[in-house]
Amino acid sequence: MTVPPARIRTLTIDGKDVGAREDETILDVARENGIWIPTLCQMTGLSNIGACRLCLVEVAGSTKLQPACVTRVEEGMQVTAHSDRLAEYRKMIVELLFAEGNHICSVCVTNGHCDLQWLAQRLEIDHIRFPYLYGKRSVDASHERFVLDHNRCVLCTRCVRVCDEVEGAHTWDIMGRGTNARVITDLAQPWGESTSCTSCGKCVSVCPTGALFEQGKAVTEMVKHRELLPMLLTMRGRQR
Ligand code: SF4
Ligand code: SF4
Ligand code: FES
Repeated sequence: MTVPPARIRTLTIDGKDVGAREDETILDVARENGIWIPTLCQMTGLSNIGACRLCLVEVAGSTKLQPACVTRVEEGMQVTAHSDRLAEYRKMIVELLFAEGNHICSVCVTNGHCDLQWLAQRLEIDHIRFPYLYGKRSVDASHERFVLDHNRCVLCTRCVRVCDEVEGAHTWDIMGRGTNARVITDLAQPWGESTSCTSCGKCVSVCPTGALFEQGKAVTEMVKHRELLPMLLTMRGRQR
């Protein structure tokens, strides 16, 4: 049976005429056209879950903001990816992440290699307007090669998805709700006692912050290997 070719949709992003396949998202087509939209939970190769809301855009005719990573293109859509309103919301989202966790970049192993820090710089955040929660969060250093620091976790679930969708181990999950939500390994036992973890390190590579890192790394030393995932997926002939 022959698969019918995907149909083409035409739309505008920030006033620019663009074409896209009907199965693409606004984020896909923006990237293809060199239009930057901030993202945090999204990672090419993993399923899109629309969790962080950093990629929110305006769509003409809708009063609600739409997450670009999970919104499919439609014919005649008029998308605004950059406006004062969006800039303000994006700043606010990143500020809230800083206020909720305990992010002290100067003593972080990924200082200088962190997606959250980079986003804050790119969005021109120079202070946090919200009260810090100073949550009491723990560090799990029980794994022989890796460490989990809950203080720096932004609950993007990249680790959960890569471990399930690429490695096939499904070691990670989320437990709890709201500010009590935490990533857990297996049935919330220490990572070092996990029977499902293969120690492949994929979760550490995709984690955008210093929440997951390699043992023995000093401040600023932990470089994330972002190229690992696209390379693996290409070798397996699979790309989402
Ligand atoms: S090291 Fe590999 S198997 Fe273990 S939790 Fe991370 S991604 Fe999953
Ligand atoms: S540990 Fe890292 S990858 Fe996993 S949810 Fe937290 S920030 Fe995201
Ligand atoms: S990147 Fe779209 S919601 Fe996180």
